[in-house]
Amino acid sequence: MSTLTPSSDFNRAILSVYAIITWAVTGIALVVFAGLGWILLRYRERPGTALPTQTRGHTLLEIGWTIAPALVLLVIAIPTLQVIFRTQAATRPPDALEVTVRGWQWWWEFRYPQLDVVTANELHLPVGRAVHFTLEGPDVIHSFWIPSLGGKRDVVPGRLNTLRMTPEAPGEYWGQCAEFCGVAHANMGMRVVVDTAEAFERWATAQQAPAAEPSEAAAAGRDLYARLACVGCHTIRGVSAGVLGPDLTHFGSRRTVGAGMWPNTVDNVAAWLKDPPGLKPGVKMPNLGLTDEQADALAIYLLELR
Ligand code: CUA
Repeated sequence: MSTLTPSSDFNRAILSVYAIITWAVTGIALVVFAGLGWILLRYRERPGTALPTQTRGHTLLEIGWTIAPALVLLVIAIPTLQVIFRTQAATRPPDALEVTVRGWQWWWEFRYPQLDVVTANELHLPVGRAVHFTLEGPDVIHSFWIPSLGGKRDVVPGRLNTLRMTPEAPGEYWGQCAEFCGVAHANMGMRVVVDTAEAFERWATAQQAPAAEPSEAAAAGRDLYARLACVGCHTIRGVSAGVLGPDLTHFGSRRTVGAGMWPNTVDNVAAWLKDPPGLKPGVKMPNLGLTDEQADALAIYLLELR
């Protein structure tokens, strides 16, 4: 997670401002330290030297050191303001992919209204296409941040912030909530996959499909899921319609569980189901007191939802 490896137009613009500031302060530091060194050596006290002329007030110098910093600030301010206005522009390109980001305590929901896709904690984007994010805060203030791609922009209840960027390189990126939002703030991550247009299309088509019918091995898990409290909070299209937790219709297609915390494997999911608050303190999903067999059956079912 580094802002120094930009993979979007948005981040390149910000990095160009960083570069200007870095070079400007490096130049200033060189001038100041060189001047200081020279003065220390040239005018240091030697035995027998008389007190130098004492100066009080020097109009030219004072004008000089007022104007010079103002010029430096101007050199930094002009590109900074340009980038702020460019990245804040509210206009969206007509062919932009729309993504609604909802920050929840403590996970991310991603909705693609044009594609009728809903997912969680794993954001997929096509390379080279502008994305227009609308940021919604259903509970408290979060901050949407994918260091290599862009952000941080706050996700504020009662206010719709937007963010626009074009991912420029396919790959896997990581994002993180960047505004303290409660006890599990540090465990509010996301995985971001930037794909080729074709791979993104395939992903979207798979996400649009209804939940897979369970195999024989997973049937017990599906029955358990439907009987337990899971259905009150989670959606698996065709099985349940809860809205408090992540949509699980294609849970098995995601690579992490717990908002980016662990690899999405049967063992990890079973451990998570047995004691969510123990593994992620503060999480709203309660400990349902599952037996090992129940947790395993549920995990097998959930991972089949690809
Ligand atoms: Cu959400 Cu910090």
